[in-house]
Amino acid sequence: MNIAFGCDHAGYEEPEPYYAPTIIDHLESLGYSVQHLGTHGQGSVDYPDFANKVAHAILDGSAELGILLCGTGTGISIAANRHRGIRAAVCVTEEMVQFARAHNNANILCIGRRISSIEECKHLINSFLGTDFDGGERHVRRIDKMDELA
Ligand code: RB5
Repeated sequence: MNIAFGCDHAGYEEPEPYYAPTIIDHLESLGYSVQHLGTHGQGSVDYPDFANKVAHAILDGSAELGILLCGTGTGISIAANRHRGIRAAVCVTEEMVQFARAHNNANILCIGRRISSIEECKHLINSFLGTDFDGGERHVRRIDKMDELA
């Protein structure tokens, strides 16, 4: 499975370990193919630019799922959710992640450098990639309605 990853400068925020490379190493160790769409360093950038890159990777089919990281996960999720067909969920517990996949068919997980430890992030990512959409009619109807009403 192809995963698109994006972050703002929070991905390289001190102290080490830097979250972005650690998350990418984690994904690759699990056998996923990862596109790191930036940012790639500590220079201050604008999170909408990287939300946009990951959203487009999913919408054009080059990635099946995405992971976005900023300081809190909030700004980058708001930016990603401006794209029709993107369902980006900020999650801080594994239960939130599992429902985001099973009920909301979330296609991007958003995590916060200043909110979750790197080990917590790995667990959130494992749950995200290990949970399928349950496909229930009511969930499909509600997801379709989000795009119809947008
Ligand atoms: C950048 O300092 C910070 O505002 C950003 O990473 C994010 O937390 C915004 O929601």
